[in-house]
Amino acid sequence: MSAGNRPCAPLLVTVNVTTRCNLDCVYCYMQPRSGVDMPRAEFERVIDELSARGVFLVTLSGGEPFLHPEFPELFRYAHKRFAHVMTLTNGTALRSCHLDAIHEVLNEKGAVTIQVSLDAIDVRMNALTRAPSRRTLRTIRQLTSIGCHVIVAIVVTRHNIAAVRPTIEALAEHTRWFHLMAVQDIRSKMGIERELESELAMRSALWSELRALAAARDLAINLPADECASGCATGAPCMAGFSTFVIDPDLKVRPCDRVTDVVIGNLREATIPDIWNGEAALGVIRRDEPICRSPARWERLASPVTR
Ligand SMILES: C[S@@+](CC[C@H](N)C(=O)[O-])C[C@H]1O[C@@H](n2cnc3c(N)ncnc32)[C@H](O)[C@@H]1O
Ligand code: SF4
Repeated sequence: MSAGNRPCAPLLVTVNVTTRCNLDCVYCYMQPRSGVDMPRAEFERVIDELSARGVFLVTLSGGEPFLHPEFPELFRYAHKRFAHVMTLTNGTALRSCHLDAIHEVLNEKGAVTIQVSLDAIDVRMNALTRAPSRRTLRTIRQLTSIGCHVIVAIVVTRHNIAAVRPTIEALAEHTRWFHLMAVQDIRSKMGIERELESELAMRSALWSELRALAAARDLAINLPADECASGCATGAPCMAGFSTFVIDPDLKVRPCDRVTDVVIGNLREATIPDIWNGEAALGVIRRDEPICRSPARWERLASPVTR
């Protein structure tokens, strides 16, 4: 522990293993998707360091992590070092070498959790924000059939709001886990939140319906509780800088995956405790509102390097 009882590392860390992606979802915060892969040796060093510092959960993301040329090796390595690993995917790049690695880890650990993004089961509706849904649906079926815990991540917009319930009902035969998210503005796409937002009355009605559906069918449906604005388990206004950070393929560290242009350090030059307790990270938590909510003030942070 460091001074003031602040641990020397976050609780949850997202490792973006690549910036490359085969899709171009309308709201995607990962900008630019320039095709940088985290070198395997650096990935292993980072994972070792996170594990040595007592980090609890590692999330493998991107870009599309399954497009990293050595993803099976990265996946196996992370699972060896951590009890709790989550992988986020668009479900369109799963290959047999990935399934082999997943099988292996399942046999060793008994559980693997993968979050698959899908906005609507309807092929054309899903394509309005992401891509046609066929391949993603096949991935969800493949993963659940071998025993993975699959969380279906749905970004709720005006395009898919009417299809959210039917999508959950149709997928409930494969999984009981659903994570609904609101679109969040990002600097490179300011205004996208308003552009894609559904009507408040429709959202309120849907949340009530889904609470009833979850109770009736024993589903775990995580609704967009606006975690960033309403506080979290730590009592902090948002988790960025309090319990989480994100590492990019070039080893730059950012406070939150949604805030792509504020960098609080680089693991090629500094250690995790130095970054976690450095002025830039502390500048994020000294603010009176979440970093994602005040773009005009991003420049005024204590000292982060901005891209
Ligand atoms: C950036 S993606 C990376 C992993 C993978 N490519 C995927 O699509 O799941 C992680 C998650 O963030 C969601 N996402 C991306 N941009 C978003 C935004 N501006 N607001 C809300 N969710 C967003 C995606 O739908 C996806 O579920
Ligand atoms: S699949 Fe994921 S990383 Fe790729 S564009 Fe969509 S949200 Fe972004």
